[in-house]
Amino acid sequence: MAQDDVKDRLFGDKKMSLWTIMVRTFAYLKKEIWSFVLALVLLVFSVAVNMLTPLVLKQFTNDLNLAESGVDFHDLLILGLGYFGLIVINQFLVYIQSMLLQKAGQKIIYRLRNDVFEHVEGMSIAQLNMMPVGSLVTRVAFYTANMSDLFTNTLVSIFRNILTIAGVAVIMFILSPALAGIMMGFLAVVFVISFFFSRHVKRIFRLERAKQSEFNSFLNESLSGMKIVQLYVQENRKKKQFDEQNLYLRKLRMKVVAAFAVYRPTISFLYYLALGATFFFAFRLNLSSGDVVAFYMLLSNFFSPIERLADSLNNLQRAHAASEKLYSLLDVKPDVVDSPSAIAIDSFRGEIEFRNVWFAYENEDWILKDVSFHVAPKQTVAFVGATGAGKTTILSLIVRNFVPQKGDIFIDGINIKDIQIKSLRKAVGQMLQDVFLFSGSIKDNITLYDSDAYTDEEVMKVCDYVNASSFINNLDGGLNSPVIEKGENFSSGQRQLLSFARTVLSHPQILILDEATANIDTETEKLIQDSLNKMKSIGTMLVVAHRLSTIQHSDNIIVLQGGRVMESGTHQELLHQKGLYFKLYQLQFEQAS
Ligand SMILES: Nc1ncnc2c1ncn2[C@@H]1O[C@H](COP(=O)(O)OP(=O)(O)OP(=O)(O)O)[C@@H](O)[C@H]1O
Ligand SMILES: [Mg+2]
Repeated sequence: MAQDDVKDRLFGDKKMSLWTIMVRTFAYLKKEIWSFVLALVLLVFSVAVNMLTPLVLKQFTNDLNLAESGVDFHDLLILGLGYFGLIVINQFLVYIQSMLLQKAGQKIIYRLRNDVFEHVEGMSIAQLNMMPVGSLVTRVAFYTANMSDLFTNTLVSIFRNILTIAGVAVIMFILSPALAGIMMGFLAVVFVISFFFSRHVKRIFRLERAKQSEFNSFLNESLSGMKIVQLYVQENRKKKQFDEQNLYLRKLRMKVVAAFAVYRPTISFLYYLALGATFFFAFRLNLSSGDVVAFYMLLSNFFSPIERLADSLNNLQRAHAASEKLYSLLDVKPDVVDSPSAIAIDSFRGEIEFRNVWFAYENEDWILKDVSFHVAPKQTVAFVGATGAGKTTILSLIVRNFVPQKGDIFIDGINIKDIQIKSLRKAVGQMLQDVFLFSGSIKDNITLYDSDAYTDEEVMKVCDYVNASSFINNLDGGLNSPVIEKGENFSSGQRQLLSFARTVLSHPQILILDEATANIDTETEKLIQDSLNKMKSIGTMLVVAHRLSTIQHSDNIIVLQGGRVMESGTHQELLHQKGLYFKLYQLQFEQAS
């Protein structure tokens, strides 16, 4: 793999032979196999008809020469009409052939895209963190198309062109072995030039693809982060980076253009040279005018297939590279999957236990150190601690976004490794630190696009419950008001309330709340506080709170520092201990007053 390709490599990428790829792709092709077989048969037929043209014209020309000595005009007419009919039929078959291939190809792309997307959906957060979004976009959107191109265009075209070249060569040798021999010389030269040309552009194409993917990643990140860029007046710097990449892409494209600009005229020149040679040697070899016409036509049938063959070899390379990347991605095994014996659980009581849990995102860089705690069903437990103490990490282990290296986590006494991930995640309602809203309507975001499953009244009832209805009712469209990408048209407090509604609607038995650190106005804070108190009755609740006022009435408060549990107890107990919690409390109290 070229060094420049590195940026487009995901951690699982590996090399595969063209053969391996074909065999794997055959699985996608199987359902469409009859379309392909039929298309190939039609193709052989159309190549044969094409081959006939020069021979018919030869006959025609020779007949015309003889016309003076009295050839039947009627015979000529039959010959002409018959041939014309054949061409019409052939064009119709070409139409059917290309429709068959395209239809089959589009079905393959469709299935491939679905598979790749589904596969990416099944990956763990840790795996996704290692994959730049731009690369994934390029793979799902473009590489799938490149790959199906292999079967709908490239291989068919290679087959057709080789067939054509062979056919032409055979007819040439039948007409005049000597002249055919000379033409083979031209064929060899054109092929060698085309081969090296294709190797050259292949390299540029590959670079271009890698750069394009990098560019997509860059665009994705810059556009998502535009607000920050503007906030810090970094537009010029971003613009400069953009400009560099844009310019590079333009230069690469120009290299391709330049290569073609040299290649095409060279081939044309050779074509005319071959044509000149034909006339010259026809004269020398005493060929009939019919033979000359036939050779003239055969030549044009000769050069373009060779050119196209070189082109196809390029595409073959591109399809190969694309397939390699796609299959590599499909081969990355999701690292958090159900064990074969995992059980589905409909409803949990909501008892949670961490037993000596150690966890590191990377290597032995322990983020959680020997964390143990127990939460009884329906209890509310709060986690407090400085930023980076590991609070969010603890919550993400419960839903198996990540897996601890040591220790175990139990829900209702069952190790979560033995619970099907789906039923686990269904039971746990997560209200995360950064609420992610999708573009769509408010209702879409609360029902997570399962809008039809709930009536507006049901959704509104939940909004009422979590105190979100007041601000929703103030919007012109109510529940149908639009949410723009990432929910930027709502305040962080409002977003938090929407995530509460989302959670309550899904009837979880365990609720997880990672309180937003962002400043929330006192009014919204009160709404959130009140809503939280209500939600306590739904099930077991784990709360990460930054405002200690939020959690004073929790059944238990766990104080973390550097990934270790330092203290635990009720608000009053912890205040009496005069330890870490006491200090945190004093600090916040001082700030507030
Ligand atoms: N995906 C990740 N990959 C590597 N390290 C991570 C990742 N997420 C968090 N960390 C690290 O783990 C530590 C704990 O992070 P965590 O998000 O659990 O803290 P927190 O207690 O929730 O902090 P905050 O109060 O700021 O939300 C931090 O040092 C952080 O740098
Ligand atoms: Mg956090």
